[in-house]
Amino acid sequence: MKTDDQIIMGIETSCDETAVAIIKNGREILSNVVASQIESHKRFGGVVPEIASRHHLEEITIVIEEALNQAGVSFKEIDAIAVTEGPGLVGALLIGVNAAKALSFAHNIPLIGVHHIAGHIYANRILTEFKFPLLSLVVSGGHTELVLMEEHGEYKVIGETRDDAVGEAYDKVARSLQLPYPGGPHIDRLAHEGEATIKLPRAWLEDGSYDFSFSGLKSAVINTLHNAEQRGEKIEPKDLAASFQESVIDVLVTKTRRATEEFKVKQLLLAGGVAANKGLRKKLEENYSDSEVELVIPPLSLCTDNAAMIAAVGSIMFEKGKRSNYRLNGNPGLDLENS
Ligand code: KG4
Ligand code: ZN
Repeated sequence: MKTDDQIIMGIETSCDETAVAIIKNGREILSNVVASQIESHKRFGGVVPEIASRHHLEEITIVIEEALNQAGVSFKEIDAIAVTEGPGLVGALLIGVNAAKALSFAHNIPLIGVHHIAGHIYANRILTEFKFPLLSLVVSGGHTELVLMEEHGEYKVIGETRDDAVGEAYDKVARSLQLPYPGGPHIDRLAHEGEATIKLPRAWLEDGSYDFSFSGLKSAVINTLHNAEQRGEKIEPKDLAASFQESVIDVLVTKTRRATEEFKVKQLLLAGGVAANKGLRKKLEENYSDSEVELVIPPLSLCTDNAAMIAAVGSIMFEKGKRSNYRLNGNPGLDLENS
């Protein structure tokens, strides 16, 4: 039976987590189920697209049922189904998009395609209501962006990476240190045990730019390891991890602080898988302790890929009257500003 409450189902299958969530009135999580495939991809040192699609296919109906059961909700009560449309792996996206289309058609429920990064940003709205203008620092395996928002559902990318995403750089550096996939959490842990004694570059780019670049830093780490090996010297992985992490955080926090001041934002939201990084969380907290800007940092469960964040975007789009039709498709190159 329909109530006055708005109930949205979110579906996320863009990478290596099959996730379904149900949220109430845009901010209250009724269920948030995530089936991770990390164990299956670990032995290959990264996500294998073909394997990801197969796992999504095996898991999706089970995860949908589990999300409904945990929430104690039936399809009759659901106002809209929001699904990640892109960006991501096309074969992986298609599983979620097709599941959402089938459910939408069978139960006559509106369908809403959502941008994955909008999802990471809206994970923060589950914690606190947005105050505009706001800035999001989006740091994930595929994206590194500063996104300015003047109102719900409107995104302006003021800076982005010109090469590697932060998470990608973390994973590649971890790989060069023979750490398991995904490497980010391992580097983060090692960084806390080591000292930042190795000099590594920081790519500030041209004056005033909010863009980022991490491939030079990543190469510098790999070169440092090779050179030491050739000279028969030993480099402490924990010191290298600490030096790498310090360089990444220094650039991210400095540019973000400058942007929050220039655009006079009320809130700074941290978003994406790398938002789980303890060093980054701590540095931002220290940096904003003297600022009027409200810093919002999601709990770890909402930083990595999940479907509650997709449902949270769906809630706002539903209110704004946005709907997708059955031509909705997986779109690996979906643009945030036009989503
Ligand atoms: O947002 P996400 O779950 O997936 C994408 O949409 O890309 O982000 C995954 C990325 C991986 O590169 C992973 O290594 C990184 O987030 N990550 C971390 C930490 N936890 C996850 N990077 C640094 N420190 C962490 N603690
Ligand atoms: Zn993500």
